[in-house]
Amino acid sequence: MGKDGYNLVVVANRLPVDMAVAEDGTVDWQRSPGGLVTALEPVMQGADGAWVGWSGAPGLEADPFDADGMRLVPVTLSETEIQRYYEGFSNDTLWPLYHDVIAPPAFHRQWWDSYRKVNQRFAEAAAGQAAEGAIVWVQDYQLQLVPQMLRALRPDLRIGFFNHIPFPPLELFQQLPWRRQVLEGLLGADLIGFQRPGDASNFVQAVRRLTDLTTRGQHIMMNASDGTTRTVRAASFPISIDSRRFDELARSPEVQARAREIRADLGDPEIVMLGVDRLDYTKGIRHRIKAYGELLQDGRLDPAKCTLVQVASPSRENVGAYQELREHVEILVGRINGEYGEIGHSAIHYLHHSYPPEEMAALYLAADVMLVTSLRDGMNLVAKEYVAARSDTAGVLVLSEFTGAADELAGAIMVNPHDIDGMKDAIYRAATMDPREQRRRMRRLRRKVLTDDVAKWSESFIAALGGTAEVPATQEPVLEVTASQ
Ligand code: G6P
Repeated sequence: MGKDGYNLVVVANRLPVDMAVAEDGTVDWQRSPGGLVTALEPVMQGADGAWVGWSGAPGLEADPFDADGMRLVPVTLSETEIQRYYEGFSNDTLWPLYHDVIAPPAFHRQWWDSYRKVNQRFAEAAAGQAAEGAIVWVQDYQLQLVPQMLRALRPDLRIGFFNHIPFPPLELFQQLPWRRQVLEGLLGADLIGFQRPGDASNFVQAVRRLTDLTTRGQHIMMNASDGTTRTVRAASFPISIDSRRFDELARSPEVQARAREIRADLGDPEIVMLGVDRLDYTKGIRHRIKAYGELLQDGRLDPAKCTLVQVASPSRENVGAYQELREHVEILVGRINGEYGEIGHSAIHYLHHSYPPEEMAALYLAADVMLVTSLRDGMNLVAKEYVAARSDTAGVLVLSEFTGAADELAGAIMVNPHDIDGMKDAIYRAATMDPREQRRRMRRLRRKVLTDDVAKWSESFIAALGGTAEVPATQEPVLEVTASQ
């Protein structure tokens, strides 16, 4: 840490560790393997970095501490705040609203009040850690008010924001009773990053229509009370994964042996299909299972020769829409297994767990067909992990058009998950694809995923942020990130 604070501060809803109070009252922590951690860890460890976030437990208060070369700064949330700010406003208002209202968003004023208060707490914690002129990088939809709150506390900082999920079209966004406050919150940043160019232009359109500000291309002109003008830039920076790490993991003899063992345990079927998702209604899990079930019913796939492994990791289990989804998925799986299973062979292996990266890599290697059928998805990193794991250039990726990844992964078989017949044809095609075509497609996919990795993502964002803070209002930014547009 510099004499007055840290030069790079990441602010995210969650810390990159899970914390719990041990029996003797001390706080224990363990690495949590989320995507954001792997994305930001290399930058954080190389820089003089602090990470501000929630510990994941109710009411837990802990002092800042050092872990894996980073300063971790826990923010405390009470049980009520978890209900209103996290489960409520973040995951029952913003999440469905930003994902095409697949589930109806709920608008509650108490939730909004809590969202504001908690955002203020995160902003204060970040302001307390940052050195003079530091870069602060705020992450995701849970913290959209932090940029403006932080700027009010610390006008010396360079502030970036990255939205990991889609930004909705104006017609949906304008349903939000607090739409203007959210835009103003985000506009406290110097640079606002989105996954796809379409998300960035949805945001700029919302600013144009719902505020009096002037926009020019990717830029929004802000007039400060002291008469100066500040320019905010909104652009796309598609996130990726630590591709080399996944590639290496999947090449290790242990993981390869585990992949063979998984296939043997599944009864050595001819075709193994795989779905890996958080159990979330945006992921199209029901649509995928329905299409698979119909292929068995039609006799196009032989239940004795193929199986679907569906990993559905538990998520947001106190939110009603997630509880309903779980019921629906489990009923559907039960019905298909009842119909097509035999003793010693299931049509679907449904696993309501999460697994460490080694097991994930083995599952990817064991799968002939990977099904990513989201109804809406900011990026979808599972698709990229599958590709990074397949150094054998075998395997077929079936990918929804409604993911950010579809903009980048041209070698996949694209599907519209709402079109069940179209999806059945695509799954059948993937299951019967000849190895030469598999190789051709997988090579193309791997070139993309191994080149555009997460280090490139974070470096390009931080470089662009460094170049935008001092841009005079009348000029275009000096630093343009063209590679990731
Ligand atoms: C998505 C969001 C992340 C979030 C993650 C897990 O990827 O973009 O911000 O952390 O889901 O959800 P959870 O609610 O468990 O943090």
